[in-house]
Amino acid sequence: MLNFSFANSTQIHFGEQQISTLSSNIPTDAKVLVVYGGGSIKKNGVYDQVCEALSAHSWGEFSGIEPNPSYQTCMQAVELVKRDNYDFILAVGGGSVIDGCKFIAAAACFEGEPWDILAKGAEVNSALPLGVVLTLPATGSESNSFSVVSNKETNDKLPFATPLVQPKFAVLDPNVMTTLPKRQLTNGVVDAFVHTMEQYLTYPVDAKVQDRFAEGLLLTLMEEGPKVLADDASYEVRANVMWSATMALNGLIGAGVPQDWGTHMIGHEVTAVYGLDHAQTLAIVLPRMMAEQKEAKREKILQYAQRVLKLDVSKPEIAIEQAIEKTELFFHSVQMPTRFRDYQLGEEVADAIVTQLERHGMTALGEHQAVTLEKSHRILLQSV
Ligand code: NZQ
Ligand code: ZN
Repeated sequence: MLNFSFANSTQIHFGEQQISTLSSNIPTDAKVLVVYGGGSIKKNGVYDQVCEALSAHSWGEFSGIEPNPSYQTCMQAVELVKRDNYDFILAVGGGSVIDGCKFIAAAACFEGEPWDILAKGAEVNSALPLGVVLTLPATGSESNSFSVVSNKETNDKLPFATPLVQPKFAVLDPNVMTTLPKRQLTNGVVDAFVHTMEQYLTYPVDAKVQDRFAEGLLLTLMEEGPKVLADDASYEVRANVMWSATMALNGLIGAGVPQDWGTHMIGHEVTAVYGLDHAQTLAIVLPRMMAEQKEAKREKILQYAQRVLKLDVSKPEIAIEQAIEKTELFFHSVQMPTRFRDYQLGEEVADAIVTQLERHGMTALGEHQAVTLEKSHRILLQSV
């Protein structure tokens, strides 16, 4: 096992009616800016529950954070924070709203041009405290310190990370999932699955606990993923998907193990250029990443084949092919396409995305930094 330091300081309030705990989770003397997206929270009762819980607080709101939050929109919120002296941010939404709020929280306290936080990795020295009401289980952003923000003018989609934007608390009520469109449920299951794979499917370091936690998440998502898409999906199914998505990227399964993230880095570029949903890009890239890296990932693919997919691994070459195929079939089972052609895109994608990767210095991806631009190009071509 590799050395690691691990803490997850986000307090989770999980279950029905937990939005009401906002009243005691946020200091009563705080001036709260409630930040949300395009308005889904006004149609499903979440906004009303937040208003009720904050009845004793002083608060205002900012709406319009878009999917793949833009720097430009976030900066409007930063201006509002500064103008009206808000000192607590409450994100109510999915990964985009939460990531946008992390950037807002950091940018509001940043001296200089906040875009440098993303473009130049400028150090963040302070940030406003942040709380979350999660409405879409997918990214794990509700209890991690990562954020991904896009600049729509330059086609950049860039991450930053600092413990200073780790949410203080996150409210996870599976009932909020009842209004999610199927496309977003599918996205959530696939994103959580790929987060787990990025931290599991690398090379063995004898990290038995992390491996078995990761396998538990993969099995749960494979079992519950198709069920959560049904119109009559139960509270229990939703709860298991929601908790899996949080656990997939809260630092636990990634502590002390090598991590890949190559699929994500390529996927972010695809979203920046072509606008595909984040998880849609991952489902296209991952199977081809597995194939391209099958020698480097050989032992873990076989472990995955045996323990998660329950395949016969006595003929390893066949088992590896089957494991890749079954991964793609799992994506299909949650109604997720896995090819660029499903989005009317063709071979032109490979050149365009490799240009982006080069521009962002993503020239050596993966757990061994072995995925060169040439390999990324091949992965993209094979994904058409
Ligand atoms: O904007 P509203 O009206 O809220 O609608 C949203 C949005 O249109 C809707 N939605 C959310 N909850 C709903 C709902 N509709 C009905 N009922 C509800 N309960 O869903 C749409 C998509 O929301 P979005 O937040 O964009 O989705 P997701 O949670 O998948 O977040 C994706 C973003 O997170 C980033 C991605 O790159 C992408 O920008 N990621 C963040 C990570 C992190 N911070 O750790 C890691 C991930 O790998 C990922 O990169
Ligand atoms: Zn992701």
